[in-house]
Amino acid sequence: MENNRINVGIVGLGRLGRIHANNLRNKIPNINLIAACSVVDSELDYAKSELACEKVFKDYDEMVNDEEIDAVVIVSPSSLHCNQITKALEAGKHVFCEKPLGDNIEEMEDVKAAVAAHPNQVFMLGFMRRFDPSYQYAKEIVDRGEIGEITLMRCYGIDPHEGMASFVEFAKNSKSGGLFLDMAVHDIDLIRWFTGKEFKSVWALGNNIAYPELDELGDTETGAALCRLEENKIGILVSGRNSAHGYHVETEIIGTKGSLRISNLQEKNLVTVLNDQGVIRPTSQNFPERFKDAFVNELEAFSEYILNGTPSSITVEDGIQGTKVALACGLSLENNEIVSVN
Ligand code: NAI
Repeated sequence: MENNRINVGIVGLGRLGRIHANNLRNKIPNINLIAACSVVDSELDYAKSELACEKVFKDYDEMVNDEEIDAVVIVSPSSLHCNQITKALEAGKHVFCEKPLGDNIEEMEDVKAAVAAHPNQVFMLGFMRRFDPSYQYAKEIVDRGEIGEITLMRCYGIDPHEGMASFVEFAKNSKSGGLFLDMAVHDIDLIRWFTGKEFKSVWALGNNIAYPELDELGDTETGAALCRLEENKIGILVSGRNSAHGYHVETEIIGTKGSLRISNLQEKNLVTVLNDQGVIRPTSQNFPERFKDAFVNELEAFSEYILNGTPSSITVEDGIQGTKVALACGLSLENNEIVSVN
């Protein structure tokens, strides 16, 4: 690392990879995006022409073993994460990886061992909502005890139906891990972060009423789970892929002395239009728009952890627990029964 500039290689330049790559290139002063890896030729051309990457790779192993690279940012399909994290750590790199950590327990345990074996390298998982200014503001209120002790959290995470075509491509090309691992894992993480408690059991339901074609992909369009946490705290998860008005992420936290809501209306900005359609408040349309700042903030934090030699606030254990709960929800949905976590 020269002059406190971290040389980064990114793997995955798809829906989210391009957003991270552009943030790395243009928004994080201490990061120098020098390399990109993808299995798609046009994406590698994009990396050279638009991102000015000096090096492009089709083979991930070649990229992680490049000596000039200090850190790897992983934005590849979820089923590849564990293997790619382990390889990067073993090659001496710091690692930022998109959620979820993985889709099976054995591989995640290997990652945990690899993280423990490389204590001087930063490992961070991308639960970006923890870096969203509104969630951070809410967390401070909760931590100051202003709504008392949390008794229940209700979380909505519903993708816009306009994104269905790109989701179907994503799910065909790579296993998404199912609705709960792909979508609800963010809300599971928020519940663990706000309450500081672990999930004990879950009961999940789901359907594909608007998009029966998701049956063929083994995926779910609308799902819900009722969850019991330690100390009998309650979590309610509502996840979906069919929001008509845009991207709908909403969280309600009920405490013994009050409650708060984050984003109960997905307002795009402060504009209200009054016309023959009624009173219209434009809404956020997709995850890049709603979490624009959070995606930058999390990568900035990653660079600071590396430069300051401090561990990431989001740990491998957060990733393991998130996936365990999401997998339990998937099992509950499949077998129509209450499933214990662990
Ligand atoms: P995508 O399917 O659009 O892109 C996948 C990328 O990985 C492509 O560039 C592809 O070339 C590359 N890739 C696939 N196999 C590869 C291999 N063997 N070696 C190297 N590169 C390979 O996927 P998308 O939507 O960008 O999602 C990527 C990850 O980001 C997923 O894990 C997903 O869960 C996560 N994600 C997180 C979001 C968030 O809100 N934090 C939002 C969207 C995605």
